[in-house]
Amino acid sequence: MDIFHIGAECYPVAKVGGLADVVGALPKYQNSAGHLVKVVLPCYETKFIEENKFDNVHLGSVKLGNFNFPFNVLKERTGKLGYELYLIEIPELFDRKEIYGYEDDIERFLSFQIATLDWVITRNVIPDVINCHDHHTGLIPFMMLYANKYEKLKNTPTVITIHNSIYQGQFGFDKLYYLPEFDLSKVSVLEWDNKINSLATAIKCASAVTTVSPNYLNEINQSAFGLESLFSLVRDKSRGILNGIDMEVWNPATDKMLEKKYSIKNFKKGKQENKEKLCSQFDLDPTKPLFSFIGRLLEEKGADLLPHAAAMSLSENYKGINILVLGSGNVEIEKQLTHLQTSFKGNYNTVIGYDEELAHLIYGGSDFLLMPSRVEPCGLNQMYAMRYGTIPIVRRTGGLKDTVIDFGDEGNGICHDQASVGDICYSIQRAVNLYEDKKKINDIRKLGMGIDHSWESVCQEYIEVYNLIIEKK
Ligand code: GLC
Repeated sequence: MDIFHIGAECYPVAKVGGLADVVGALPKYQNSAGHLVKVVLPCYETKFIEENKFDNVHLGSVKLGNFNFPFNVLKERTGKLGYELYLIEIPELFDRKEIYGYEDDIERFLSFQIATLDWVITRNVIPDVINCHDHHTGLIPFMMLYANKYEKLKNTPTVITIHNSIYQGQFGFDKLYYLPEFDLSKVSVLEWDNKINSLATAIKCASAVTTVSPNYLNEINQSAFGLESLFSLVRDKSRGILNGIDMEVWNPATDKMLEKKYSIKNFKKGKQENKEKLCSQFDLDPTKPLFSFIGRLLEEKGADLLPHAAAMSLSENYKGINILVLGSGNVEIEKQLTHLQTSFKGNYNTVIGYDEELAHLIYGGSDFLLMPSRVEPCGLNQMYAMRYGTIPIVRRTGGLKDTVIDFGDEGNGICHDQASVGDICYSIQRAVNLYEDKKKINDIRKLGMGIDHSWESVCQEYIEVYNLIIEKK
């Protein structure tokens, strides 16, 4: 099967969050299962092209209303990523420091989508399926169906994979003229809540909708940031597929970013050495349990609860626990978390920023990983943590509910229901008690390390979805 994945992020090329990990891994496993997989994303940095080998495969110019943006399509030459990687280079719009967060994000990602389709129609082979990821690519299914110039792609099935429905890519109808000429009788398809809504349009137009966990699909009918009723209408073409993790990238037995590699057979010693390294690096106490948080410091992730919950737990267990936070996001949360460093010196530390290498060491050296998310469509960190023998402490929501079961029910982690300081502190207290019971905690670690979250079987589920929609077309 000839499969295109189109997204805004892809590890190791461009990463902000879990979207990148999925777009970097799923194609690789589909490719090794015998399919011909291509990943298309914007080219954010000329640096990446300079350091890697690319061929220029297409030159074009995106027309966005009255604007014209020249673009190049670059193909990674070696195939070392395990799939064909294509970067759409539109220097005027994308050669910037950050991936998102600009006033012209709508213009940027719309141009990316148009450039991608402009190029796809010039190829000799029409793809068997186009898998779009999140709202940045949400107008592609619509344009394929109704834009005159993409007539050739009208019968190509599409999938929209929803990694997060909070972000929907909305904009006013004053920008309607940006879209390439299309069948105007279909203009209402673009509309949701009086705006053009990229994600809603994708949900309406794609041949299939997938969410990144089954439970998130269940929840989405009740809470989807305004799209609830739309989701109920498309239930028949929707499927929740739990993300896998890249078992090659995330393997404590081969992980070069760890101080000490280890496997399920010798994890106690291995984890201890990583913990000692981490504790000496961040001035923490290696004889006490270490709780970590890794991720974006946003309300969505429950990060606003962390400063208070950390302060309370550290005071209640004076010098009896350690907390380490790695992340960036909301400036106020960053400030509050950093401020705690003075009060709990020797047992608390924060690293503001994003550091992939440090993240690996934290999974390796921590005892517990905190994920008090309000919204978590899948969550990958809890799976990484378990693979490294670190016990996840999660709020039962989205994919966290699918992957973590409380140890009180013979499970692999610690769960709570509310996104509240009280619930987090209570879970930390249960973890502190569990830490004393060495046999039990090691059994839970082993249980987590033995779980198979590999992409092999998951990628087959995507293929099933593709087969279904190909048959229907
Ligand atoms: C988004 C979601 C996260 C999910 C990831 C990959 O970042 O917030 O829950 O794991 O996408 O699908």
